[in-house]
Amino acid sequence: MTKILLIGFNILTCLAMNVHGQQNYSGFSAQDCKSNDQNFLYTCNGENRSCQAFLIFKSTPPYNSVQTISNLTSSSPEELARVNNVTESEVFPTNKEVIIPVNCSCAGQYYQNNASKIVHGKEETYYIIANDIFQGLSTCKSLKIENKFGELDLEAGLKLKVPLRCACPTRNQTENGTIFLLTYPLNSGDKILDLSKRFNVSARSLLYANGFSEDNLLPVIFSSTPILIPLPTEPSSSLTIIHKDDDTDTPTIPQLLDSGPRRPKSKSKAKLYTVVALTAGCSLLILVVALSAFFLVYKKRSKGPIVLPRTLTKRMSPEDLRVEIASFEKGNLHVYGIEEIKKATESFSPEKQIKGPVFQGVFGNGKKESTTLAVKRTRKDVSEEVNILKKLNHFNLIKLEGVCKHHDRFYLVFEYMENGSLREWLRGNCSEKNWTWAKRIQIALDIAHGLNYLHSFTKPGYVHKNIKSSNILLNRNMRAKIANFGLAGPAMDETTSTTSTDRSETTTRTSHVVGTRGYVDPEYLTTGVATPKIDVFAYGVVILELMTRKNAVAVQNGRQVLLSVKIVEIMEGDDPEADLDLFIDPGLKEDHDRYIEFALRVAKLSVSCLKREPESRPTMGEVISTLSKIQADLQRTEL
Ligand SMILES: *[C@@H]1O[C@H](CO)[C@@H](O)[C@H](O)[C@H]1NC(C)=O
Ligand SMILES: *[C@@H]1O[C@H](CO)[C@@H](O)[C@H](O)[C@H]1NC(C)=O
Ligand SMILES: *[C@@H]1O[C@H](CO)[C@@H](O)[C@H](O)[C@H]1NC(C)=O
Ligand SMILES: *[C@@H]1O[C@H](CO)[C@@H](O)[C@H](O)[C@H]1NC(C)=O
Ligand SMILES: *[C@@H]1O[C@H](CO)[C@@H](O)[C@H](O)[C@H]1NC(C)=O
Ligand SMILES: *[C@@H]1O[C@H](CO)[C@@H](O)[C@H](O)[C@H]1NC(C)=O
Ligand SMILES: *[C@@H]1O[C@H](CO)[C@@H](O)[C@H](O)[C@H]1NC(C)=O
Ligand SMILES: *[C@@H]1O[C@H](CO)[C@@H](O)[C@H](O)[C@H]1NC(C)=O
Ligand SMILES: *[C@@H]1O[C@H](CO)[C@@H](O)[C@H](O)[C@H]1NC(C)=O
Repeated sequence: MTKILLIGFNILTCLAMNVHGQQNYSGFSAQDCKSNDQNFLYTCNGENRSCQAFLIFKSTPPYNSVQTISNLTSSSPEELARVNNVTESEVFPTNKEVIIPVNCSCAGQYYQNNASKIVHGKEETYYIIANDIFQGLSTCKSLKIENKFGELDLEAGLKLKVPLRCACPTRNQTENGTIFLLTYPLNSGDKILDLSKRFNVSARSLLYANGFSEDNLLPVIFSSTPILIPLPTEPSSSLTIIHKDDDTDTPTIPQLLDSGPRRPKSKSKAKLYTVVALTAGCSLLILVVALSAFFLVYKKRSKGPIVLPRTLTKRMSPEDLRVEIASFEKGNLHVYGIEEIKKATESFSPEKQIKGPVFQGVFGNGKKESTTLAVKRTRKDVSEEVNILKKLNHFNLIKLEGVCKHHDRFYLVFEYMENGSLREWLRGNCSEKNWTWAKRIQIALDIAHGLNYLHSFTKPGYVHKNIKSSNILLNRNMRAKIANFGLAGPAMDETTSTTSTDRSETTTRTSHVVGTRGYVDPEYLTTGVATPKIDVFAYGVVILELMTRKNAVAVQNGRQVLLSVKIVEIMEGDDPEADLDLFIDPGLKEDHDRYIEFALRVAKLSVSCLKREPESRPTMGEVISTLSKIQADLQRTEL
C-alpha cells in the first residue's frame, strides 16, 4: 500500500526535477522505508570529497539545548555554540532553528555525516528516528542500510549509526561563489522566494542546487523534507528564526510553492489548480470550479509584493501549467448523462437501492464488460465535495468515478464496495471466524493510510471531519476505503488550537462544529478548529470498534457510555489487562493465544489517539508505523 502511495508521489517529484541539477530533491520518496535501490542521501559529486557543511535542526524538547542537540547530532558543542552565537549552556526556545556544523564526507557513492543515536524505546522505529527525531535530516532507508538490526528488533539501549544528509558544493557551484551547503528541512508555508530572500541567495542558485528547473519557481515541495541552500559564507544565527507553526507535530503537510505573498494563516485555504479534461456531458459544474480556481491562482500571484512575479508567471506557459495540473489530476472524472444514470440504476428502482440515496448502477452497453458502480443522488450542492474528491487518488479513499447534474439534482458515481460499511459488518452476525486479528489490523491500517494521504499528501491538507465506522466501506476483498466527504474541508493550522490564551480573536473557525456523537474530539467542540487531529481522535474510536465490536456510544445500565471514555478508564485503571480481557470481542481471543498482548498494544494506540490535547496525539504517519509493527509481529507469531 505504501508502494501505491509512493508511486504516485514519485510521479510528482519527478515532474519537479530537472535533468542537470547538483543534487536532486527527493521529496516524500525519501521517507520511504522500503525503497530498493536508493538511500536518498546526496550524491558524492562535489569538488571535494569532504567539506564543512551545515544543517538546520528545529529545537524541540528534549533536544532543545546546545548540549542535547550536539549530542543528538554528534557535532561539537563548542562549534555549535559559536555558529549560533550562544554559550554552551544555552537552552533554545522551542521551534528555534539551530545551525548544526558537521563534517561532511563521501562514504561510497554518497555524502554523509555520521551521527549516532541510542534507541530509547519500542516506539522508536527507523521511520520515526529519521523523519521525526532527526526531522528528515536522515532517511529511513539509509538507517536500515547502516544498521544491522531488523526494523522490528529495535530495542531500548541499542546504538544506531545515523547518516545525516549533507553535501559539498560542485565545481559549478563553487565557481559561482558557493562555499557551503546548508541542509534545510522545509516547513509548511516555506516558499523558494522567501527562503532565497532570508538566506540572501538567488532563487536561481537555490533551484539549481536542488535539481529543480530554474525557470519554474513553483516546484512541488513538501514540508519536513530537506532542500539544500547554497551559501557564500558561513550561516549566521541572524538568519535563523523561531517557527510559529509547530511543524514537528505535523511532519508531512505537503507544500506547493507559489510566488504569492506569504500568508501563513490562510495557507490552508489556498486552492489547488484544478483542470479536468471535460468532454461533453450534462453539467458545466466542474469546468466552472476549475476555471475559478485557475483564475484565483493567477490573481493571487500577480498581486504579490515579491520581485518579478508577473514575468515569472508569464514565463510559465499555459502548456506547462496544464502539465503540472494534470499531474495532480490522476484519473479524470467522467461526466455522465442523465440517461446513462437512469439506465444504470433502472430509473432508481427500489431493487437497485443500496441504502438511502445510494443506488447500485450497472454501466456499460453490453459490448464491453459492464461495471457496477454506486450512484448517490442528492439535491445538496456537492461542488465542494466533488472539488475535493477529484483531487484524491488513493487506494484507501473511495474513488469518485464521475458526476452528473440534471435540473437541481446532482448524481455522484463512486466505485462500488461489495461488502458495505464497516459498521454493518461489525454489527452484523458475520461469522466470527472471518474476523481475525490479521483482518482487523489490515482494516485499521487501510483507514490509517487513507487518512495519512488525506492529511499529508494533498494540497491543501484536508480533514475528513466525519470518520466513523459507517463511513468506512469494504470492498470484495475486505479492504477498507474511506467514504463520505460531505463534511471534509481544508485543514486548519494546528497551532491555532494550542495557543490557548488568545483563541478568540486570532483564529478563523468553522461556524458550526460538525461530526457524529461518539467520535467528536471534545477539544474541537470547544475550539471549533478543524485540524487533522480531529480525524486522529475519531480514528482512535474506530479501532476500538474494530477490537470490541461495540458501539461508539453504548448504553450501559441506562447510561450512555462513550467508547472513547471507557477505554481510558480501563487503561488507567488498576488492572488494565483483566478489564481489557472482558472488553474485547470474544472472537479475538480464539484467534490468537497472545491476544491480550495485541489487545494492549491496540488499546494503547487508541488511547494515544484520544488524548485530550490534539498536539499530543500521533500523526497518521506515526499510527501507520506503530500498526505496521503490530501487523508484522502478528504475522511472525502466526507462523
Ligand atoms: C538527478 O536526476 C537526473 C534524472 O533522473 C539524473 O540524470 C541525475 O544524475 C541525478 N543527479 C544526481 C546528482 O543524482
Ligand atoms: C576543496 O579543497 C581545496 C583544497 O583543500 C580547498 O582549497 C577548497 O576550498 C575546497 N573547496 C570546498 C568547496 O570546500
Ligand atoms: C550523548 O549522551 C550519551 C549519554 O549521556 C552518551 O552515552 C553519548 O556518548 C553521547 N553522545 C555524544 C555523541 O556525545
Ligand atoms: C570536523 O573536522 C575538524 C577538522 O578536521 C575537526 O577538528 C573536528 O573535530 C571535526 N568535528 C567533528 C564533530 O568530528
Ligand atoms: C551575538 O550576540 C550578541 C548579543 O548576544 C550580539 O551583540 C552580537 O551582535 C551577535 N553577533 C552576531 C555575529 O550575530
Ligand atoms: C561514516 O560511516 C561510513 C559507513 O559506516 C564509513 O564508510 C565512513 O568512513 C564514515 N565516515 C567518517 C568520516 O567516519
Ligand atoms: C556545470 O555547468 C555546465 C555549464 O553551465 C554544464 O554543462 C554542466 O552540466 C554543469 N555540471 C553539472 C554537474 O551540473
Ligand atoms: C553562475 O553564474 C553565471 C553568471 O552569473 C550564470 O550564468 C550561471 O548560470 C551560474 N551557474 C550556476 C550553476 O548557478
Ligand atoms: C546579500 O548578498 C550580497 C552579495 O550577493 C551582499 O552584497 C549583501 O550585503 C548581502 N545582504 C545581506 C543583508 O547580507
